[in-house]
Amino acid sequence: MVNEMGKYQNIDDVLAEALANIAGAPNSAALEDVRIAFLGKNGRFTALTKMLATLPVEEKKAFGQEVNVAKAKIESELAACKEALSRRELDEQLRRETIDVTKPIRPEQQGRIHPVSKIYEEVVAIFGQMGFEVAEGPDIEDQFHNFNALNTPANHPARQMQDTFYVPNPESSDFDDSYVVRTQTSSVQIRTMENKRPPIRIIAPGRTYRSDYDATHTPMFHQVEGLVIDKNITMAHLKGCLYDFVKAFFELDELPVRYRPSYFPFTEPSAEMDIGCLKTKTELKIGAGDDWLEILGCGMVHPNVLRAGGIDPDEYQGFAFGVGMDRLAMLKYGIPDLRTFFESDVRWLKHYGFVPLDESSMTGGLSNNGGAQR
Ligand code: DAH
Repeated sequence: MVNEMGKYQNIDDVLAEALANIAGAPNSAALEDVRIAFLGKNGRFTALTKMLATLPVEEKKAFGQEVNVAKAKIESELAACKEALSRRELDEQLRRETIDVTKPIRPEQQGRIHPVSKIYEEVVAIFGQMGFEVAEGPDIEDQFHNFNALNTPANHPARQMQDTFYVPNPESSDFDDSYVVRTQTSSVQIRTMENKRPPIRIIAPGRTYRSDYDATHTPMFHQVEGLVIDKNITMAHLKGCLYDFVKAFFELDELPVRYRPSYFPFTEPSAEMDIGCLKTKTELKIGAGDDWLEILGCGMVHPNVLRAGGIDPDEYQGFAFGVGMDRLAMLKYGIPDLRTFFESDVRWLKHYGFVPLDESSMTGGLSNNGGAQR
């Protein structure tokens, strides 16, 4: 056993060594190693404490006090050093991870959003705010959903209004069983009624197909269908809803509109909506002038259609509408030929497309300055 001086010397040495190690610890992990080496279960100080048991009673008190004072000193040094190190480490991390938030996200942004995708976003943003949900249906449809349930049975003259592409049914040679690539998104009206009870408030944007090809027709094009069904729905609801839509869509406070009587098999009465515009040889200006431009078809859902969807027409009424989305894009963004939409010409997309991160919203702006940021 060490003599009296030796024991106290021992405490001082261990303390001095501990303090030197603490001061020299380069980071928090090294500091933790120091703590374990001195104060851990098998640490140097713990060994000193154990020595206590072997001492005669009269020495225990003084030695114990000495150990405790030294230990407290180490603990307070450890805490102070730990705080200083972690502050330094945080500063370093922040410096390392600095980003310049004012930099453009991609200085060389190449891609563009196709005008049809842009219109899709805009239409969903407007009707979304009015409380409409987006509904979907398949592109390859059966004749029931595309025609029959929409009050257009086989041999109905209205079937000639649409140049339908038929798709053979491998399970039947009967022509009435053949499928179609849907000629209209109106088919989603029926699919929605089959799956949902009123109140119904949906829009169904999507691809549609007809055998047609010129400057304003392509075999594949896009429509958005709208359907509202509830109790006591009237034509006034239809007019208010569509008026709000066209104003929001063209981003105008005032826009003259009119409804002309029309015919669609699935609505009664049926109408076409026109918006006021000015047509000159070189320009089409929407919202001003004495000319009219047809914009969409609409009407009150025919009782036969409600019945086909399993809804009692004596209890519920509804209105519906169908809009050509490509046509909306042509009008809003001044694109003259529909065929160019689907030619995948990157130069065209660069000119008519939209910067990807400018999302359309009712609060942040639909087109972002009316397309000026193209
Ligand atoms: N499906 C019609 C078309 O393709 C558009 C349409 C008109 C849809 C009137 C409707 C509607 O829902 O009520 O020409």
